[in-house]
Amino acid sequence: MKITDAFVAEHEELYAWFDQLEAVIPGDVKTLAEVKIPGAELASTLYEHAELEEELLFDALEAEMGSDESVRKVRQDHTRIEQLMQDVLGHLEDIKRMGHARRTLLQAIKVARAHFAREENETFPLAEEILGEAKLLELGAQWEERRSKE
Ligand SMILES: [Fe+2]
Ligand SMILES: [Fe+2]
Repeated sequence: MKITDAFVAEHEELYAWFDQLEAVIPGDVKTLAEVKIPGAELASTLYEHAELEEELLFDALEAEMGSDESVRKVRQDHTRIEQLMQDVLGHLEDIKRMGHARRTLLQAIKVARAHFAREENETFPLAEEILGEAKLLELGAQWEERRSKE
């Protein structure tokens, strides 16, 4: 599998998860655990996904093209999403801050949706063009190897 297809498939799983959280989080959340557990799981899943994109795909793209504005932009998105999720995780112990944690979690999901769209519409097509199919398949094998160790 090409690495770009692997990442699109990971996005699909995350979109379904976002839909679920967006339906549940704004509503009648009564306990911290309702935000805390999905918040912590989402933070680590988003982090691992972003780390694989950077180490396997973005580094390979920049090795080929040099520094590139659109790649810089998606790396910045990763930092922004991670900051938002750290903010969520930092406020999950305090029941009085639960409203803040919920709003920030929903904001992180919104930013992540826009970021995934940017990758699907700009970064991945750029990778197809610059790296070509053979390289994307080779990187896809590395992605599979990394995922199988988790
Ligand atoms: Fe990403
Ligand atoms: Fe992504």
